Amino acid sequence: MRIAVPAESDPGEARVAATAETVKKYIALGADVVIQTGAGMKSGVPDADYAAMGATIVADAQAAIADADIILRVRRPSGQDLAGAKRGALVLAIADPYDHVEALEKLAATGVLLFAMELMPRITRAQAMDVLSSQANLAGYRAVVDAAAEFGRAFPMMMTAAGTVPAAKVFIMGVGVAGLQAIATARRMGAIVTATDVRPATKEQVVSLGAKFIAVEDEEFKQAETAGGYAKEMSAAYQEKQKALTAAHIAKQDVVITTALIPGRRAPLLITEDMVASMRPGSVIVDLAVERGGNCALSRPGEVVVTDKGVRIIGHMNVPGRLAATASALYARNLSAFVDTLVDKTQKALAVNWDDDLVKATLLTKDGGLVHPNFQKAT
Ligand code: NAI
Repeated sequence: MRIAVPAESDPGEARVAATAETVKKYIALGADVVIQTGAGMKSGVPDADYAAMGATIVADAQAAIADADIILRVRRPSGQDLAGAKRGALVLAIADPYDHVEALEKLAATGVLLFAMELMPRITRAQAMDVLSSQANLAGYRAVVDAAAEFGRAFPMMMTAAGTVPAAKVFIMGVGVAGLQAIATARRMGAIVTATDVRPATKEQVVSLGAKFIAVEDEEFKQAETAGGYAKEMSAAYQEKQKALTAAHIAKQDVVITTALIPGRRAPLLITEDMVASMRPGSVIVDLAVERGGNCALSRPGEVVVTDKGVRIIGHMNVPGRLAATASALYARNLSAFVDTLVDKTQKALAVNWDDDLVKATLLTKDGGLVHPNFQKAT
């Protein structure tokens, strides 16, 4: 059994799909591990660390994936990235499948079996494989660090001989995995933190982290959580009430961090141009939803926008990649936990159980076609 780790083809992707720690685990499983030279460099893992665990280092991606049974990636590869891959090879990646049916079909045509790690069910057995959580947690942390770096004032209250510095007021919109970590991080840095969400379950979580919960708690709010634990798209009437409540609050904040997402849809618009204009000069907004359409009307993917009133709106892409070493360490463990379920440890060979819920939920392509029911091309 051969496991390959090619370097990421997107130059903007600093993460890597295996670390020295997970290579050691794969070798203990009986696999040969082949790493493309330099694959881990941007995450602080030199070739020598992989080699020390028993991996073979090869010069290019083609040499890495040739004969591989499992190919580990951070991002979905293109068909070209997989030229020379074996038909039937398993490819594990954050596949970003929504709206990319054509790219998925091209990949299917190469004969590989692509697994979308972000579709892993959020059940107890799969917690160690939950890439959405491992990466969103880091994004929430980094959003606060990025906000603090752009903010021209201190976060904690300081009593100094020269007088008292007030604590920064930080408002977190969307309290999933990223939002909860953002609350915890901003609190640790000494800010006064408030937070909002449309799911009632978040109220207790916010309070337990020492922040104040603010939300329109009407009948719709009580029903806003799906059976899967996600938010529903809220009605226009709810959104208006939410806007009225948050507009007055945002005007008084120093930092607003937005993380609100609805699976498979555009991110909800929570901060209007008028709300941005109501903030004091020097205030900072971080829009973690910018890649999914944005929670703020003025955020731009990959940019830090400065309004003429001096409000900075941070729209960094791939925020977990801004902490590449930590993000890679956790992502690599997520992959390793999943690979464990795909292998027969006594035979030291691939043994995919096609009836396993984890496989059924994540497998996108097989036998040359797109097999996942959610991503069939509209006819
Ligand atoms: P997400 O990334 O899909 O969304 C982020 C947050 O935005 C959510 O809390 C959502 O309610 C909120 N949101 C959506 N629309 C909004 C609006 N209009 N206004 C304000 N907030 C809005 O969520 P994430 O982080 O993936 O978490 C979703 C759920 O999954 C949570 O209940 C979380 O606790 C749960 N979860 C369960 C796990 C497990 O059981 N293994 C692991 C990780 C998360």
